[in-house]
Order: sequence, then C-alpha cells, then structure tokens
Amino acid sequence: MSPDRRVTVRVPAKVNVQLAVGAARPDGFHDLANVFLAVSLYDEVTATPADSLRITCEGPDAGQVPLDRTNLAARAAELLAARHGLEPAVHLHIAKNIPVAGGMAGGSADGAGALLACDTLWGLDTPRADLLDICAELGSDVPFSLVGAAALGTGRGEHLTPLEAGTFHWVFAVADGGLSTPAVFREFDRLTAGTAVPEPAASPALLAALRSGDPDALAANLANDLQPAALSLRPQLAATLDAGLGAGALAALVSGSGPTTAFLVRDPEAALKVAAALEASATCRTTRTATSPAPGATVLLP
Ligand code: C5P
Repeated sequence: MSPDRRVTVRVPAKVNVQLAVGAARPDGFHDLANVFLAVSLYDEVTATPADSLRITCEGPDAGQVPLDRTNLAARAAELLAARHGLEPAVHLHIAKNIPVAGGMAGGSADGAGALLACDTLWGLDTPRADLLDICAELGSDVPFSLVGAAALGTGRGEHLTPLEAGTFHWVFAVADGGLSTPAVFREFDRLTAGTAVPEPAASPALLAALRSGDPDALAANLANDLQPAALSLRPQLAATLDAGLGAGALAALVSGSGPTTAFLVRDPEAALKVAAALEASATCRTTRTATSPAPGATVLLP
C-alpha cells in the first residue's frame, strides 16, 4: 500500500430530540427510546498507513481529546483489524469540531469515522451489518454516527430504525468543561429512585412533528429525560436555556447527557440572532449553528 494513500471520513454530531430513559437494567445500562437527529457539525477522521496505531487531533478543544487506546477511534481500528486478522498499523488524525464530552456524540463520531476510514484504507469492504456490530461494541451512540440522518434508537440506543425528517435549524451553546455520561445516568438513577420509571417509548406526536418539518410542532414535543440530571449536576445550564429562549428560540433543551444546550429556531436568520444573544449573555463558552438532518459517516473524495 502506498504510504501517500489516505482516506478522510466526515462524521456528524447528533442531538436527541426525544430521549426517553427507562430504569437501570441489571447490566447498568438503561433501555432508551432515543430519537437521534444528525446535525451539520462534523469531525473529520483521516487514516494513513503507519508502523503502528497512532492518534493525533487538531481543533480548538484538541487538548481535551485522549490520544491513547481509550479513544474510540483507536478502539475502532483495533476491533476492525482483529476481525480481519490484521495489525492496526494506521495513523488516525482527527480534525475536531464537535464539542468534546458535550452530549453530541463527538467521541462516537470519531469511532464511526475511524471504522469507515480504516475499512476503506485497508480495502476490506466489510458488510454494513458487521460494521454496525462493531459500532455497537464501541458504544451505544456509535451505530447512529455511522448511519446519520434521523433514527429511533432502542435497547441501549444501538438498535436503529430510520425515521423521516424535514429540515430544521439549530443553535448549540457549548459549555465550559464536559459532563460524564455515566455520571449523568447515575444522577438520573438517584433522582428517580423510589419512583416507577415508565418503559421508554417514542412519542407519536414527536415523530409526526419530525416528519412534517414544522418547527413549532417539533418545539412543542422536544423531550429529554436526562435534562433534570444534567441540570442537577450543572445548575448554571438553566441560565443558558433561559438566554436562548429569551432571544427567540422556539424551544431549548440539554443535548443528550449535556452540557451542550440545543436551541430549535425557525430559520437561519433566527439562528444568527439567537447565537449572538447567547454569546453576549456570557452563559456559555461559544456557539455553533447547524441544520438537520445531516448524512452519516461519509468518505470524502481526495
Ligand atoms: O455505550 P456507552 O459506552 O456510550 O455508554 C457510556 C455510559 O453511559 C455507560 O457506561 C452507562 O453508564 C451509560 N449508559 C446507560 N444507558 C445507555 C447508554 C449509556 O446507562 N443506554
């Protein structure tokens, strides 16, 4: 293989427009009804041949990204190589634009991106179903990072059913520091202890709103069961949510396990206005605007 050969894969972030969480299972995970929407904020993972597995990362928050074998991109290369009896001799470079530890599946995106980049670089043509199995082994959100667009995730979020979705406009407020997903689920368990946690189910009204592309209908149905837990661990996020709503966002919610907050807006003009107001409010570190749905992991042509 020529050492100049390189493969770059672009992978989207996600927001959960509904995240219904059931009681903790015996294995510690929670059954979910997780309505994923991929948004047009992307990481890029570039794979090039190397003597051994190496990860590098660039971007404003690159310093927060682990470069060892705990990085899902490294684990993806190892799992794929092992399945084919190969050595994971690859340099994976991550151009990071998705907030780190933010509840937008940035780590999962890098896992899915590395998997597709290595599969392409090594000419393996692994069947899609096998790639999805490896994704599920890497983490609950990784299969969705591969497929993108809009999907309902059940089980711990890894069993996907594609959904129809119209176009929506979003602003994301990036908080200072991350939140640990296991810590947010533990806080969910603490807050719901002694209550009957219902079986998670997708809301028919939410799914209809998603299909319709009507932002007012979607705004009325956004729901995240992890939001009280994220707010309990990070009370200052309430001020960010208020700032975006005060600036005209149709709805606001914590993205996944947080601490990124998501604001649904009517159009690109409203997105710019809400983003400017959030930045002026000093209740977040920075903002990003995006649209949904976005395609899943995609090999970019050289
Ligand atoms: O699957 P993933 O490794 O991304 O999950 C990270 C952590 O989030 C798990 O170890 C678990 O604590 C929590 N989690 C959960 N239920 C899910 C998904 C994740 O409790 N459905």
